[in-house]
Amino acid sequence: MNTDLKPRHDRAMQTLQVHGQEHLLTFFNDLDDTAAGALLDEIEARDWAHLQRLIETYVLKRPEAHVPEHPEPAPCYPVAPTPDRVEKYTRARALGEQLLREGKVAAFVVAGGQGTRLGFDGPKGAYPATPVNGKPLFQVFADYLLKIAEKYGKPVPWYVMTSGLNHQPTVDFFKQHNHFGLNPDDVMFFTQGTMPSIGYDGRVLLAERGMLALNPDGHGGSLRALHVSGALEDMTRRGVEQISYFQVDNPNVKCIDPLFLGLHALDGAQMSSKMVLKTGPHEKVGNFAEVDGRIVVIEYSDLPDALAEAKQPDGTLKFNAGSIAIHAISRAFVEQLNAGGFSLPFHRADKKVAHIDLSTGQRIEPTEPNAVKLEAFVFDALPLAEKSIVLQTDRVEEFAPIKNATGVDSAETSRRLQSERAARWLEAKGVTIPRCKDGMVDAHIELSHRTAVEADDLDNLELPDRIEPGSERVL
Ligand code: UD1
Repeated sequence: MNTDLKPRHDRAMQTLQVHGQEHLLTFFNDLDDTAAGALLDEIEARDWAHLQRLIETYVLKRPEAHVPEHPEPAPCYPVAPTPDRVEKYTRARALGEQLLREGKVAAFVVAGGQGTRLGFDGPKGAYPATPVNGKPLFQVFADYLLKIAEKYGKPVPWYVMTSGLNHQPTVDFFKQHNHFGLNPDDVMFFTQGTMPSIGYDGRVLLAERGMLALNPDGHGGSLRALHVSGALEDMTRRGVEQISYFQVDNPNVKCIDPLFLGLHALDGAQMSSKMVLKTGPHEKVGNFAEVDGRIVVIEYSDLPDALAEAKQPDGTLKFNAGSIAIHAISRAFVEQLNAGGFSLPFHRADKKVAHIDLSTGQRIEPTEPNAVKLEAFVFDALPLAEKSIVLQTDRVEEFAPIKNATGVDSAETSRRLQSERAARWLEAKGVTIPRCKDGMVDAHIELSHRTAVEADDLDNLELPDRIEPGSERVL
C-alpha cells in the first residue's frame, strides 16, 4: 500500500467497521494509487451513520408504505375556468407572459433516469420521439423553448439534470446537434447525486474492486443538485424567479405554460403541479390528495384499493387527479429548502445490481433482484410548501409519455397522441382531418414546436385545407 494513503485507509477502515461496511476495502491492496485514492474519496464523502439508519429502515426491514390517515381530494383548478374564474385565468396568463418577457422563468428537465424499461441504449432524451421525422426528445423541448423565446422576446435558460450514468453522452449529444439551435450559454448541464446500492444483507455492493455500486438518488435529488451544482446561483444571476420542471419522457409537455406559471405566481405558491383525470382507479400515476391543508402525492403503488376505488356521490372517482410530473417551483423555495437542510423520504426499489463477489473478486450479473436502490421523489417536497396549487390539464394536450418499449406509454402510443394533438390544433383552425371509424386520426402528423406551441400560433400561417388519409405530414 502507498504509505501516503495508509492513514486515510486506516481512518476509512475505522469508520466502515463502526457501520458494518469494512468489506468495501477487501480489494484495497490490489488497487493502483489512483483507484485507491478515488475509493477513499468516495468513502470519505459519505455520511455512513445516516446511511446505516437508512439501511435499517429501508433495507433490513421492508418499510410499510406511509399512507396519510385521512386524505381528501386535492382542490384543483379546472382546465377551462368556471365563469367566476375567467377573469383570474386571464390575469394569470398575462402574469405568466410578463414573467417570460422579463426573463424570469427557467426550464428544468430531469433526465438522470436509466430508462431501463424502454431498453434504449443512450440518454432517454436522445430517443427518436416524433411521429414522422423521429426527432429526439431533447430537440422537441429545444424547439419549444426557441418558440417561446421568439414569442416573448427573451431566451429561456434551460437546466438539464443528468446522472453519472448519462452525463457525458448527454452533453455530447447536444454538442453533436449544435444545441438544436439554442445558444449553448443558455443550456446548463449538471449531475444529480448518488446513493449506494445495498445488498439484502445490508452491505453496500462493490461495482468494481475499487468502486462502490451507486445509483442516481431519484428525481427528488434534483432539489439539492440545483443548489450543489451552482444552478440556483446561476438562476439568481440571470434574474430567474420561477422554475418550470418536467420529465424527459413526455414530448407533449408544455415545457413553459404561461397560464400555469401565472396561476402559481398569482397565488403565491411555492411548488405547484399539473394533473390529468385518471383513466381508471388503478392507473399507474401518482395521486394528488390534501392532508392537513397541504398537497401530497400518493404513489399508485401505495394507494390502498379502498381509496383508489372510492367514489364521489356523482359516481366519479374520489381520487381522480393523476400526477403527470409537471411542476412550477419558485427559486426562493428551493433556496429555502437548501438553507434549512431539508431531507425528503426515500423509497425502496428492489433491483438487479451487478457486483463483485467478495470471496472470488469476480463480477456477478444477478438474474433476480438482489439489492435495494434508494430514491427520493420530487413530489415529496409538495407538503413542505406552504402554498401549492394543482391545475388540471387535458391528457392529449399534455401527456404522451414514452416509458415502455411496447404497449401502454410506449413510443407508438406517444406518436399517436402527438398526431392527435396536432390534428386537434389544425381542426380548430379549419383544416379537415381524416379520421378512422374509432375517431383516431388516419394520418401521421408532426407539428413542430418551432411552428406552434399552442393552437393559436397557427393563426396567420398558410395551412393546408385538408390532410390526406394515410399520409405523413410535417408542419
Ligand atoms: C413518474 C412518477 C409518477 C407520474 C409519472 C408520470 C415517480 C416515482 N413517479 O413515474 O407519479 O405519474 O412519472 O409520467 O416519479 N429521473 C431522474 N433521476 C432519477 C430517477 C428519475 O432524473 O434518479 C427522471 C427520469 O429521467 C424521468 C423522470 O425522472 O425523466 C421519471 O422517472 P421514472 O422513474 O421513469 O418515473 P415513472 O415511474 O415513469
